[in-house]
Amino acid sequence: MEYSKALIDDIKEQFELPCYVFDENEFRENYLHLLNALREYYPKYDIAYSYKTNYAPKLCSIVKELGGYAEVVSDMEYDIARKVGYKNELIIYNGPFKGPKMEEHLLNNGILNIDNMNELDRVISFASNYDKTFKVGIRVNISIGQNFISRFGIDAESNDLTKAVNLIKECNNVKLVGFHCHIGQCRSLSAWENRTKQLLKLADMYIDGIPEYIDLGSGMFGDMPSDLKGQFSSVPTYEEYACVTAKIFNEHYIDIPLENKPVLFTEPGTTVDNRYIDLIAEVDGVKKLKGKDFAILNCSIHNLGDVACSVKLPIQVFECSNNSKEYIDMDFVGYTCLERDVPYKGFSGKIGKGDYIVFGNVGGYSNVDKPPFILPQCPMIGIKDSKVYVIKRKETTEDILSTYVFNEHSF
Ligand SMILES: Cc1ncc(COP(=O)(O)O)c(C=O)c1O
Repeated sequence: MEYSKALIDDIKEQFELPCYVFDENEFRENYLHLLNALREYYPKYDIAYSYKTNYAPKLCSIVKELGGYAEVVSDMEYDIARKVGYKNELIIYNGPFKGPKMEEHLLNNGILNIDNMNELDRVISFASNYDKTFKVGIRVNISIGQNFISRFGIDAESNDLTKAVNLIKECNNVKLVGFHCHIGQCRSLSAWENRTKQLLKLADMYIDGIPEYIDLGSGMFGDMPSDLKGQFSSVPTYEEYACVTAKIFNEHYIDIPLENKPVLFTEPGTTVDNRYIDLIAEVDGVKKLKGKDFAILNCSIHNLGDVACSVKLPIQVFECSNNSKEYIDMDFVGYTCLERDVPYKGFSGKIGKGDYIVFGNVGGYSNVDKPPFILPQCPMIGIKDSKVYVIKRKETTEDILSTYVFNEHSF
C-alpha cells in the first residue's frame, strides 16, 4: 500500500493510531495469482483459507466470494465460518483438538481430517448411531525434510496408518476419501515436491478408487517486498510451487476424467494475507540509555505477528515533526513492560516524537494473536479503490472486562 503523511493524518484523526490497514485490491489480486498459478496445471485446485492466521470476517467473506473454502481448527473458527455464510461442504475441519461441533459438521457433510486414533474412535462411535455414510480424511504424519518431529497426524511411517485405514474399512458407514498433511516451517520447493509425491503414493495405496481430495496443507512463501525476501535463502514463486504440486497432480491423474479427479487443496494463511495488512504506529518518545538509542512506539510486538520475532519487517517512516534527529542502530521498543518487546532492531535514519512508522507484512497471526496484555487491541480498517471502511473497531477496557465478574456475591 502506498501511504502519504496526509493519508495517515486522516486515518489517525478518524480511527486513532496504531491502526491496521488492509489493502483489499492487492489481497484479491494475490489470491487469484496463487489460484491461477496452480489451476494452470490442475483445474481442480482449490484454496482453503487458514482462519487461524487471520479470521477477520471481512477477509473470510472475500475468500468466500472468490470461491475459496474455509480451513478451521476449532469450534470457534468453525462458528466464524458458519457466520460468514459457509455451508459445511465448503469447510475443512482440521486440527488436533476438535470441539463438540465436529459431530454437527460431520452430520452436515463437512470435510473432516482426522488427527489421531482417539478422534477416529470418536468418529466411528458417532457414526454407529446413524444409517448415513460419513466421509472422512486422515491427516498423515510424514517426513518431508524438516528437522523436527511433527506432533500432528497419524504416523504414515509406522503401522498406525494401516491400523487406522483398516478400522475405517471395518465400519460399513465410514469411508476414507482423502489425505491431508501440513508441516510448518518447511517452505522449500523440495519439501513441497516431497509432500506431493508422498500423499499421491499414500492415496494410491490406501484409498479404494480415486480419492475425493488431497490436501497438501500450507507453508508456501507468499509474495513479499524485496527487503524481506533478502532475509530468506530462497523464496519460490507461485509458478514454481505449481510445478512441484499441481503439475505432478496433473501427470498422476492424466487418464482420469476431470469430474472424477480429486480436488487438490492447499491451505494458505500467511501466503495470502501477510503482505496485505500494515500496522501504522506512532513514535511516543525517544531516549538514550547507556549510549543506546530507543524509540518508544504506541504499539507492541504482540500487534505485529509471528514473523516480527524472526525477521526485520519492512518499514516506512514518515517524519511529522521538526524535532527529528539522525540515529544509528536505534531499537524501536513497544509499549509493554517486556524487555523482549522490540518490534524493530537496528534502525538508522532520522526519527523523532510524533513520527509515523508503517510496519508491512503483518497480516498473519497479528490481530488474532494479540493478547489483552496491558492495552486492548487497536482498530483495523480496509481500503478499496481509495474508499476506507472499518473491519474491526478499537477495543475498549469494557470489552476486556466484559467476561470478568465484578460482584463477589455472584461466586
Ligand atoms: C493445518 C494448517 N493449515 C494451514 C496453516 C497456515 O499456514 P501458513 O501460515 O504457512 O499459510 C497452518 C498453520 O499453522 C496449519 O496448521
